[in-house]
Amino acid sequence: MGRRTRSAAAMAIVPLLLLSFFHLLQFVSSTQEIRVLSAEKRIDLTSPIARVFLTLKVENYGAPEVPEILIAFSPTESEHLAILKASTVEGKRKKKTYVPLSVSPVSSPDAPNGAQLYSVTLRSPLQSGETTTVEALYVLTHSLEPFPTEISQSEPQLVYYRDSATILSPYTIVEQTVYIKTPSSKVESYTKVEPTARSGSETRYGPYHDRLPYSFSPVIVHFENNNPFAVVEELVREIEISHWGNLQIRDHYRLKHAGARHKGVFSRTIAALGYFYWVYDTYAKHPCRLDYQFRQSLSASFKTLLAMLPPRVHSVYYRDDIGNISSSHLRINSQKSELEIEPRYPLFGGWKATFTIGYGLPLQDFLFESSDGRRYLNFSFGCPLIETVVDDLTVKVILPEGSRNPTAAVPFPVNQHLEMTYSYLDVVGRTTLVLQKRNVVPEHNYPFQVYYDFNPIFMLAEPLMLVSSVFLFFVAYIAYVHIDLSIRRPLKTNS
Ligand SMILES: *[C@@H]1O[C@H](CO)[C@@H](O)[C@H](O)[C@H]1NC(C)=O
Ligand SMILES: *[C@@H]1O[C@H](CO)[C@@H](O)[C@H](O)[C@H]1NC(C)=O
Repeated sequence: MGRRTRSAAAMAIVPLLLLSFFHLLQFVSSTQEIRVLSAEKRIDLTSPIARVFLTLKVENYGAPEVPEILIAFSPTESEHLAILKASTVEGKRKKKTYVPLSVSPVSSPDAPNGAQLYSVTLRSPLQSGETTTVEALYVLTHSLEPFPTEISQSEPQLVYYRDSATILSPYTIVEQTVYIKTPSSKVESYTKVEPTARSGSETRYGPYHDRLPYSFSPVIVHFENNNPFAVVEELVREIEISHWGNLQIRDHYRLKHAGARHKGVFSRTIAALGYFYWVYDTYAKHPCRLDYQFRQSLSASFKTLLAMLPPRVHSVYYRDDIGNISSSHLRINSQKSELEIEPRYPLFGGWKATFTIGYGLPLQDFLFESSDGRRYLNFSFGCPLIETVVDDLTVKVILPEGSRNPTAAVPFPVNQHLEMTYSYLDVVGRTTLVLQKRNVVPEHNYPFQVYYDFNPIFMLAEPLMLVSSVFLFFVAYIAYVHIDLSIRRPLKTNS
């Protein structure tokens, strides 16, 4: 009986197995006439954000026409993938130009090793016997794991990075090398997969020859990375357009130091000291002696943050829940404005700070009219703080009253919806286009546009509201004066 059930189960499994084998065959057959002649992967771990440059020289040795090639990511990589860009090199030597290629994810539930595939569409299909070179850049967030997870004031911050010594690919790779660049030569340990070599701040895996599709060979590198790991857990940007000539920006940050946590009482004392120092500095309005010593002891924390703002900013403010923070410095030139801000208390590993940066910009730098008569905003997406990851970004474009049919043009996928914003003097409220994106990196600081229709009659709404409120106030005043008199008179006659 038991045996019969078992064999029945086996019978049921056979078609399933056959089916998945079939899927695998399909995969292999679509990729078997392509091979990678040479591949190079350069992993840059010098900042808190991991950047990977991949160069693949691909050959079609049998298929009639190949319109696209596939790039594979491990499950961990695809989870942390913030952006993927691909390009191809055209022309030789000095006349080299990089032509961007479009990439799109491919559903690949059956790919070995849980690989997630992306397809890169070539400029023209690769004919049989031809080769082409594709370059890809991809950015990974939260890929450096602090270990030890807690460190004291004087200890360096060490992190783990995990990857594969061989390049994950759906194709056979004839020759390949992986290079890992660390911020310094201080590498505690690294997995060896011969040949492996290390010199200075670079660790090299390979060259390896004739590796089969989906070869994966896990490695761990443990090294020193003393960068403050600035992660904005949430950033809400409000971009408010006023047709009276101003663009008002309000950036609300929830920032975290995502490096190794700080242990010990000392750091807390320092922080408390920092707070009193700030109170003293703000209210006594002159520099105190504590200053120098205090700053010396903060090497492992955030001292300052740098925000890159557009040129011609004005009315800049920087505040948190308590109020305005005076410690910010603004440098403006014709290309850009640099705002250096200093949080109210030093930020150690694991600590958070919330604050708002606000500023105004001349509208004519960012608002234009398109050829079909619509107005459009052209502004930079992403986060103005340098080398910062944003886990959750919300961009709210608040259009002037009376604007209709907003549409956004953003060069990467974002979620979007509409809402209404109300402020004083508003009659019908302002249409607000909300764009949301997770896992945002500096590579997302790219212009985007919001197009909308506007009826100029609404330009009059605000002044009309102002005039009518002044008028109403006047009427109310008259009424008040009249009522006041009518009460007083009978009193006078009584006395
Ligand atoms: C903060 O600074 C801004 C701009 O300088 C100013 O408009 C605002 O009144 C200040 N707020 C407080 C509470 O000091
Ligand atoms: C938006 O501005 C950028 C420069 O900041 C410019 O290169 C780009 O052409 C502009 N896009 C449009 C559609 O006006």
